[in-house]
Amino acid sequence: MKLSIFGTGYVGLVTGACLAEVGHHVVCIDVDQTKIDNLKQGVLPIWEPGLDAIVERNTEEGRLHFTTDVAYAVGHAEVQIIAVGTPPGEDGSADLQYVLAVAQSIAAHMNGYKIIVNKSTVPVGTADAVRDRVAATLAERGLDVPFDVVSNPEFLKEGAAIADCLKPDRIIVGSESTTARERMAELYKPFNRIRERTFYMDVRSAELTKYAANAMLATKISFMNEMANMAELLGADIEHVRQGIGADPRIGYQFIYPGCGYGGSCFPKDVQALERTAAQIGYEAPLLKAVESINNRQKTLLFAKLARHFGGEPQLRGKTIAVWGLSFKPNTDDMRAAPSRTLIEALWQAGAIVKAFDPVAMNEARRLYGENAALQLAPNKYAALEGADALVVCTEWRQFHAPDFDEMQNRLAAKVIVDGRNLYEPEKLRAEGWDYYGIGRGQH
Ligand SMILES: NC(=O)c1ccc[n+]([C@@H]2O[C@H](COP(=O)([O-])OP(=O)(O)OC[C@H]3O[C@@H](n4cnc5c(N)ncnc54)[C@H](O)[C@@H]3O)[C@@H](O)[C@H]2O)c1
Repeated sequence: MKLSIFGTGYVGLVTGACLAEVGHHVVCIDVDQTKIDNLKQGVLPIWEPGLDAIVERNTEEGRLHFTTDVAYAVGHAEVQIIAVGTPPGEDGSADLQYVLAVAQSIAAHMNGYKIIVNKSTVPVGTADAVRDRVAATLAERGLDVPFDVVSNPEFLKEGAAIADCLKPDRIIVGSESTTARERMAELYKPFNRIRERTFYMDVRSAELTKYAANAMLATKISFMNEMANMAELLGADIEHVRQGIGADPRIGYQFIYPGCGYGGSCFPKDVQALERTAAQIGYEAPLLKAVESINNRQKTLLFAKLARHFGGEPQLRGKTIAVWGLSFKPNTDDMRAAPSRTLIEALWQAGAIVKAFDPVAMNEARRLYGENAALQLAPNKYAALEGADALVVCTEWRQFHAPDFDEMQNRLAAKVIVDGRNLYEPEKLRAEGWDYYGIGRGQH
């Protein structure tokens, strides 16, 4: 099949590459000329394990093309997929300007039947807004061309996006049109060979499914963080509690790790957007509000622990703090809404200096903040510790799991660890003379 994908970010590029990988002919289009020029040279805009090989192979084999030419992309295929960003607007609701701009440009160039597929995460009712925008643009052109709008939200996880895309847990297709459903079934047929993974539903249910999934996952994290904070005050160890509750199959072990808060481009903005949707329909949504406020507080916890250790915020002035991990989670360079950023910005505010290391997000950190006296980017994890007054672990990259504590103590000016991901053994480290602060591990 032929298809065009608008937006070559985390979702558009991965989806485009994976759909080409199974044999479809894909045109990826973006408004960012530099991104497209780079992609044509084989330079990827994001770091995602395994993506470069798939992009390279499919480009070479002629199934994956990159362009900024809207007319070409619209003319290329019946199926037009929208995968542009939906960042939070000023009031927290999803900003649909990019989605609607794509809808408009598809309508400005289409001359025959199109299936417009919304893969971006968008609030319930957006398919209607897309339909209205397309219809209005066609009317301006004096054209009466048939089209369908499908909701097909994306569930990939950054860091495991290729596997998620090639072997999805589920594919959600929201559409009332038989033709559109049939074409979507054909598009996703290669992914349904072992078992049918596609759930067909109405558009609104599909749109809500995406938000419900992310809100549920965010709820699990905030719940565990709430328990961790209580464990700390009660002198309990959340790691024991986690294992104890995870053993119940109704709860399960997945996604119940306490930490320094969720970040990334999805959970924070999607929980907020769902809250806004609730407000718009006059529904009080206390759970969503709590999930968000617990998370906002959790992201300030690392700084609070440091400040407490040093005897108050003013004592942080002039201190050097080593930070391990900048991306919002391992295996990605994405620093959007990362807890590391909340920490770093608070440290700067307090007059501290940050020495940071991340296995892949260093360029992203440079792009966001630039390298300066207050943000020193170290070439490796041990170099980041040189002369630092404390270490904070923000991201649970595998290479931070079993570090050489002797080496660490030689480099650090003081044996202080704030472990935002509960990677280390508090008792062992405390016995070895470290000031160790985890999340919910008995000492706050
Ligand atoms: N990142 C994730 O893990 C993830 C997972 C599931 C769903 N989503 C959702 O998918 C959507 C895209 O997210 P992302 O992380 O890929 O965003 P992104 O910011 O990485 O990429 C968006 C791309 O769209 C391009 N763009 C903007 N306007 C355009 C236009 N008119 N025509 C063509 N391209 C245009 C931008 O230049 C950018 O390259 C969002 O709604 C997001 O919530 C993201």
